[in-house]
Amino acid sequence: MKLSYIFAALSAVTSVLALPTLLEKRDNSTEPKKTILLSNDDGWQSTNIRAAYRELSDAGYDVIMVAPVSQRSGFGGQFKFPQTVNLTTDGEFGYPRAGAPSWAHEEDDVNIWYFNGTPAACVAFALDYLLPKYYNNKTIDLVVAGPNEGGNVSPGLFTLSGTMGATYTAVDRGLPAIAFSGYDLNYTFFKDFVGKENDEFFGPNINARLVVEFVNKLFASQKNNPLPFTTGLNVNFPDVGKECYDPEWVFTRMAGPYSDNAALKYNETTGLFKWNDIDLPATDECIFGDCDLPSEGAIIFKTKCKSSVSIFSIDFDASYQQANNFQKSFGDFFS
Ligand SMILES: *[C@@H]1O[C@H](CO)[C@@H](O)[C@H](O)[C@H]1NC(C)=O
Ligand SMILES: *[C@@H]1O[C@H](CO)[C@@H](O)[C@H](O)[C@H]1NC(C)=O
Ligand SMILES: *[C@@H]1O[C@H](CO)[C@@H](O)[C@H](O)[C@H]1NC(C)=O
Ligand SMILES: *[C@@H]1O[C@H](CO)[C@@H](O)[C@H](O)[C@H]1NC(C)=O
Repeated sequence: MKLSYIFAALSAVTSVLALPTLLEKRDNSTEPKKTILLSNDDGWQSTNIRAAYRELSDAGYDVIMVAPVSQRSGFGGQFKFPQTVNLTTDGEFGYPRAGAPSWAHEEDDVNIWYFNGTPAACVAFALDYLLPKYYNNKTIDLVVAGPNEGGNVSPGLFTLSGTMGATYTAVDRGLPAIAFSGYDLNYTFFKDFVGKENDEFFGPNINARLVVEFVNKLFASQKNNPLPFTTGLNVNFPDVGKECYDPEWVFTRMAGPYSDNAALKYNETTGLFKWNDIDLPATDECIFGDCDLPSEGAIIFKTKCKSSVSIFSIDFDASYQQANNFQKSFGDFFS
């Protein structure tokens, strides 16, 4: 698993700032549109989210993008929001600079917002502030988080990932939501790739095309609600752009073999810890869902050029039998 890569990407941030040549919105559709709230944890400057915004808009969706002003990978469902009216430090890649408002939209696109908060708080900012204030309480048909720069495979990353945090925050609020994660592990600034918009072999463009393909399929397949109430989807893409351009879709379950997460390893020389990946023994056990499905880990780590799609529930209760056995074991302790 590639938690390592997320953190490697975090430390690889450089501060490059080109002059704005913002992406155009090229949407000519006249049909009634579905509205998508788009967020991520890598930040509003990420090449992946800008490509997804462009491709979803081009595909005819109304997209409102709200993403953190800085890299917020690994923030899970943490709920942090601005404590000052203006930024006290630069945004990621110096975009924007300290002193800019703590939330704002692109000068030439009122639907691309940053917010100095965590992914979960970005979702709340959109729902609780932007929609009533600027969008006449527009209905959000779907929340999309990502595509993340780095995979979010297995329950180990469910709580840890900010991409997942945005997703389950939306599901908690009663909205259908999808987390998309890619294995394009470079954390990149979209302005460094101006001119690549039509390069169909460019990783972020492939990820964005896969997002559109999946979202189109979702809306075409479901009559009313894109997803059952209380559920969301976790979608992981393989490492696209080298030998893999058109991965096949595999329906998976979230838990199962090859689930992993971070553990600590003590280094005698430095006297400090490094984190390392471990398998998660408990998630091999299948309690809920279709136990015949392959796990996300089995698809993403053990096959080439396949995407995994898992449906999860935010009903965190243990199974009836587990709860019942536990309760009984306490005799008349509970009233
Ligand atoms: C925020 O920045 C604006 C623009 O520079 C400035 O006018 C305003 O006074 C600042 N607000 C605070 C609270 O610092
Ligand atoms: C939006 O919804 C909120 C909460 O229901 C309500 O107070 C507000 O008046 C609505 N605003 C508009 C523009 O309809
Ligand atoms: C990441 O960036 C480096 C340097 O630009 C490049 O060589 C490498 O192919 C990139 N990796 C991916 C996954 O795009
Ligand atoms: C401990 O850290 C040092 C210094 O970074 C490194 O050279 C060494 O390989 C590490 N040891 C292990 C067992 O990882």
